[in-house]
Amino acid sequence: MSTVATAVKTPLTQLPAWKALQAHYEAIAPQHLREIFKQDPERGTRLTASFEDIYLDYSKHRITDETLKLLFELAEQSGLAEHREAMFSGEKINTTEGRAVLHVALRAPKGEVIQVDGKDVVPEVHEVLDHMSEFSDRVRSGAWKGHTGKRIKTVVNIGIGGSDLGPVMAYEALKHYSQRDLHFRFVSNIDGTDFAEATEDLQADETLFIISSKTFTTLETMTNAHTAREWALKQLGDDKAVAKHFVAVSTNAGEVSKFGIDTANMFGFWDWVGGRYSMDSAIGLSTMLAVGPENFRKLLAGFHSMDQHFRTAPLQQNLPVIMGLLGVWYNNFFGAQTVAVLPYDQYLKRFPAYLQQLTMESNGKHVTLDGAEVGYQTGQIFWGEPGTNGQHSFYQLIHQGTKLIPADLIGFVETLNPLGNHHTYLMANVFAQAEALAFGKTAEEVKAEGTKPELVAHRVFEGNRPTNTILVDKLTPEALGKLVALYEHMVFTQGVIWQIDSFDQWGVELGKKLAVQIIGDLDGSQHNKHDSSTTALIARASKK
Ligand code: F6P
Repeated sequence: MSTVATAVKTPLTQLPAWKALQAHYEAIAPQHLREIFKQDPERGTRLTASFEDIYLDYSKHRITDETLKLLFELAEQSGLAEHREAMFSGEKINTTEGRAVLHVALRAPKGEVIQVDGKDVVPEVHEVLDHMSEFSDRVRSGAWKGHTGKRIKTVVNIGIGGSDLGPVMAYEALKHYSQRDLHFRFVSNIDGTDFAEATEDLQADETLFIISSKTFTTLETMTNAHTAREWALKQLGDDKAVAKHFVAVSTNAGEVSKFGIDTANMFGFWDWVGGRYSMDSAIGLSTMLAVGPENFRKLLAGFHSMDQHFRTAPLQQNLPVIMGLLGVWYNNFFGAQTVAVLPYDQYLKRFPAYLQQLTMESNGKHVTLDGAEVGYQTGQIFWGEPGTNGQHSFYQLIHQGTKLIPADLIGFVETLNPLGNHHTYLMANVFAQAEALAFGKTAEEVKAEGTKPELVAHRVFEGNRPTNTILVDKLTPEALGKLVALYEHMVFTQGVIWQIDSFDQWGVELGKKLAVQIIGDLDGSQHNKHDSSTTALIARASKK
């Protein structure tokens, strides 16, 4: 059966809108934002879009109304609306893995019907949420006792990739709402240092480990999980203690029980949830433990309202669509390789790292859905740091370097920590950066300041650097849900345009397989053939 995902498509570069954008780029590229604003003085309020408490100013982009018209035509000609509907209705749009892509079902309210293979999945989602809530309440209140009868003081989430980055990011982002007498640590790296340092000052009888792994076979996570069990049993001396100090989040009940965790203490999810789209599934158990079930449900409500916006708002007012298309504009026409994500909120310090997996594991693909070489650029490189720290580090290159780096500046109108003038100063920096990046400073302006002639060139800011400014009222659980869903759907939009599978990740397989072989080479149990470089490195590392 031909579905939206498998239907034969006109290659991207043959679409009329693509060709028109190529010609249009030639006209736009030489124009400066100073001129663009002069010719269109109202664009600062016109080229904006908002949804509930999220306001997107995209006026400081190297675009005109014609650019936008062509980008929206590109979305239409790419079948974005049909693909979006296919995702929401449970079609198996992850064709290379034969799976539906239904993270939107994780935040669907009770009563909504979303079917996979004819089965409504929403009731199961709520059963797991209820199980998580009941467990979280017991741990948070102290009703859940450890093996020696003490309450849990520290929760250690062991996971990697989507089973770590979402939980860490959400814990940091929502720390303000967290129960402060419960502490959280996150272990992801297979480097023993990560586990050793995370547990160095912990007592096993007051510690709860969450083993988070969709597959429950990931080398890093399972190695850390076994080390955690040995560490706990060394102190507690009784296998029965595992039931009180280990719970699992996984889709693989068989492996969970093989590990020795009672499946009553397992929180499940489904193969239609991708790892990088799982922070609002049971993978968010640590988040719920930190902020409580009520706040977790608010987080889900935020995700859901952005889902509805993405599904129903006209393309021209649709935040994820606008951001996705602007990304395509710079990636494919200006040749911009990267995007800087610059959250002006310390609580979002792990947001860029989270976005890296979401965007780059999703859209870092070199073939289209039918396996043909794409022949154009796909996923952009996402990176960033919280403002204002980045300003004293890498912003120099964004302002005066030779590369074009579009940036997303994310700020909050209200702070959660009102302290003197801090927030005014912080927000002044958000707006100052966007203004400086767009408009720069000309040689005439520099000269007029009395700058020595030989320094003029050094002090010129070319400007014409594009930004999104995303202004949110306040960092609440709902707002975080909306922000994450905004980027999820932005990634989706771009994947549809590029005609790729945004939901597989075959690119991580080869390294995993080779590592397993090289483990054998390093411990002497195997002698695999490698290239001369790898062979020499293995030999050197094997020297005792
Ligand atoms: O890096 C590959 C990957 O499969 C990610 O997509 C995933 O988030 C991560 O590994 C962890 O996988 P799991 O949750 O199965 O341990």
